[in-house]
Amino acid sequence: MCQIQKSETLKSLQRDHGIIGRFLRHFRRICLELEQNEDFHGDVDRLVAFIDSFIEEFHHQREEQVLFAHVQRTHPGESHLGRRLFHDHEDGRHYIEAMRAASSFATRELKASFLWNAMGYSSLSHDHLSYEERELYPHIAGLISDDADQELLEQMNDLFPDTEARLEQASLFVESLSHLGA
Ligand SMILES: [Fe+2]
Ligand SMILES: [Fe+2]
Repeated sequence: MCQIQKSETLKSLQRDHGIIGRFLRHFRRICLELEQNEDFHGDVDRLVAFIDSFIEEFHHQREEQVLFAHVQRTHPGESHLGRRLFHDHEDGRHYIEAMRAASSFATRELKASFLWNAMGYSSLSHDHLSYEERELYPHIAGLISDDADQELLEQMNDLFPDTEARLEQASLFVESLSHLGA
């Protein structure tokens, strides 16, 4: 994970990344187990619910509505930076939709479809996190003034006043996944 010394906004978003990275490792392991072990059913609805609530509704909204809205407003010449961010988020949503549609595992085909989409989601998200950590966030760090940084942090907290509680809940959930599967 890159060290972004200055920006509290980016540091806060990087805490989400830490939790998401740990989640993705468990998610992949659980999917492999589902593929190899007929008797293992996993708890895929809870996994998709976590992706919906923590990654989609929380982390991606903090990035899209606050961080990128700011870059687009203050550095319109740099708005190309957001292209991959939005594109990846959008691609991820197609995978999530397809996982949700198949999560009953009512037939072999549905289970296969879930796993295929889950693996696609997992590698997309892994690459996306690594792109943000290695390239995007370090670049954006140079575009945020100290005053703007404080404002952005406040905006994120206004958008989700329960940030600390969400992070704690998400961490506990991800930790609980180590007991699921082999
Ligand atoms: Fe993102
Ligand atoms: Fe992110």
